[in-house]
Amino acid sequence: MTAEQRLRGEYQLANGGALTLIQVTDTHLMATPGGRLLNVDTDDSLAAVIELVLQQQSDTDALLITGDISGDGADSAYGRLAQALSVVPAPSFWLPGNHDECRGDETHADRFIRCLSNPHWLVVLLDSQQSGEVGGYLAAPELQALSRSVDRANQEGKHLLVATHHPLHPLGCDWLDPQRVANAAAFEVEVERCRQQVVVVSGHVHQASDQRVGSARYLTTPSTCVQFAPNQVEFKVDDAAPGYRWLRLSPQGQVETGVERVTHRSFPVDLGSAGYL
Ligand SMILES: [Fe+2]
Repeated sequence: MTAEQRLRGEYQLANGGALTLIQVTDTHLMATPGGRLLNVDTDDSLAAVIELVLQQQSDTDALLITGDISGDGADSAYGRLAQALSVVPAPSFWLPGNHDECRGDETHADRFIRCLSNPHWLVVLLDSQQSGEVGGYLAAPELQALSRSVDRANQEGKHLLVATHHPLHPLGCDWLDPQRVANAAAFEVEVERCRQQVVVVSGHVHQASDQRVGSARYLTTPSTCVQFAPNQVEFKVDDAAPGYRWLRLSPQGQVETGVERVTHRSFPVDLGSAGYL
């Protein structure tokens, strides 16, 4: 499957008012249930995050799963993600990360969608994966999809939410920042054409951030398993808890958002690890 085919189709959200979207990212599910990443059972930590979503969010319109669904490229991760999410009464839409070698698995292809929309918001999912590479890049079909989405948002007077795996901008981690989308400048040229609000949500960095660059707001979100410590020169794991992000998008373009973390369980991580990427 090529990048052109990976994300396709559009889902019409039933809610014509304010939207509640939940971002769940970097689940790193391993080939075998109960597989661990730096000592954390990633199925178990995902289940705890989903439980938290169910406790805290009663009106979710959709979940966005922003990549690194699989921790080791095994197809078995995708079925287990679908099963874990099946308790949430809302559809989920997925995009690939650098750990997702999901080209052989068509079973969940309908989850890898290009757009969601309601009368006020257009949500576009972009694939920033480069096969065999850790860092991100937006190939021509992805930039074209973004460009079409900006045109459409302008024509229809909609606000725009863009979801990617790799972040677009540096966060202050010297070892991690070079892995951001290499051609972020081309992305910015497109989003700066949008006359309405633009918010961008990304994964990959296993930490929360919130910054404004140009006219757009850029957010990143903790992983459902292991976290990376902010502002580090070299790889360093953080002992922060697994979590997720919620976003409330008003018809007028206001964005309320926050990160929630699991507090009812603890997931001790191997803090001495020198890396795994
Ligand atoms: Fe990643």
